[in-house]
Amino acid sequence: MPYPFEPHKIKVLDSIKILSRSERIKALQEADYNLFKIPSEKVTIDLLTDSGTSALSQEQWSQMMLGDESYASAKSWEKFEIAVKNFTGKKEVVPVHQGRAAEKIIAEILLQKNDIIFSNGFFDTTRANFEHRGAICFDVPTEKSADLSTPKLFKGDIDVKKLRKLLSCYEERAKFILMTLTNNTGGGQPASLKNMELAGNIATQKGLKFIVDACRIAENAYFIWLHEQKRMGSIKNIIRKLFSLADIAYMSTKKDGLASSGGFIVTNDESLAAKLKELAVLYEGFVTYGGMAGREMEAIARGLEEIISPTYLEHRINQIAYLHRELVKIGIPLIHPSGGHAVYIDAGKLFSHIPRNKFPGQALVVALYQEGGIRSVEIGSLMLGKTSKPELVRLAIPRRVYVQSHFDYIVDVFKKIVVNKKRFRGFKIIWQPSTLRHFTCKLKLVN
Ligand code: F0G
Repeated sequence: MPYPFEPHKIKVLDSIKILSRSERIKALQEADYNLFKIPSEKVTIDLLTDSGTSALSQEQWSQMMLGDESYASAKSWEKFEIAVKNFTGKKEVVPVHQGRAAEKIIAEILLQKNDIIFSNGFFDTTRANFEHRGAICFDVPTEKSADLSTPKLFKGDIDVKKLRKLLSCYEERAKFILMTLTNNTGGGQPASLKNMELAGNIATQKGLKFIVDACRIAENAYFIWLHEQKRMGSIKNIIRKLFSLADIAYMSTKKDGLASSGGFIVTNDESLAAKLKELAVLYEGFVTYGGMAGREMEAIARGLEEIISPTYLEHRINQIAYLHRELVKIGIPLIHPSGGHAVYIDAGKLFSHIPRNKFPGQALVVALYQEGGIRSVEIGSLMLGKTSKPELVRLAIPRRVYVQSHFDYIVDVFKKIVVNKKRFRGFKIIWQPSTLRHFTCKLKLVN
């Protein structure tokens, strides 16, 4: 079977609207060519993000009916805390309403102005929160990840050689090493267990904290299970092993938590946890809900059990591999191999007639909406500014939402775009905020 068997069936429907091309052009103009501003009911296939967009299982919905909305020490908190401890193996759990709230709290506890921190790839909100504290972020990806088209394993690794070199230059100001699993800005590529252990050892030797951004840790663990651990041991044990390397880990449960919101920070360090909890109360809510409703904590508790199912993960990873393979067949330049949560297009190469300063990635994002109502996201100069190297467009796949006909439709829309790609034009920014500009900036077509 070219397409993986769906290990679930449809029980609740959410109808898809298909607008005409001229309606879509009007919607783009009204949104200043910023896809974040297109009303979702005008989107046919929404690949903007895999965050908070998962289909919930009937078990999650039924548990949500039991949500205890008491302010303090609710039953739903107890279930959430047990599930997080079971998933991570850590002793201290600090609840937060989503990933970036964890980033803000960690930044305030650990970082001062001019501190230097390292990662395989900081996600945009992660970088923005740390830079907001005055810290300097170094992405240290491996050489193999720079070659987008060669399908090497574990392109999400951190370059340990380069990391050691950088640490010898900046030893005094270095604060922590953060591993993003999987590496979202670098193509949703996983890091290997070996690389995690090496990076963790370097952190220990240098007296630095080792932090894990665990929002897609189950997908990362699946790749480790498949390619590195030779299918020995369970996915759950690999996840626990990855958490065991971290001094602090945090997770936006909007991704591998299979939930619509939420998150947590975990550690075994009691005094650090006490500090984190103080700020959590200040910013998020009491330490037994952290900005989440009881019913949300119920959904997450169940989601953390469902996410480790090998049947689920096999389908998930193969669904993305299917879209990847079909796009390769029609000559779309992509990041190889296919990653954990998305397919990444090398828009700089596909739209090579549009220079970098005219945002070829955004031009492709707009083309996909105009020709097929597909919403995607640019991960290139518009999102990351000058730190960006490749001009990427991400097709993030919501969990358990789309089926084969949707993927075949996406491929057809790409076929339409490539036939006459030179007619798509670049953009210039006509308004932008001071940070995270891609969310709200206004754009104009250029010739
Ligand atoms: N870390 C990573 C690697 C992420 O991908 C995200 C969010 C966050 C942290 C922040 O979590 O959204 O719960 O505050 N990524 C979403 C995305 C937005 O589309 O990739 P959050």
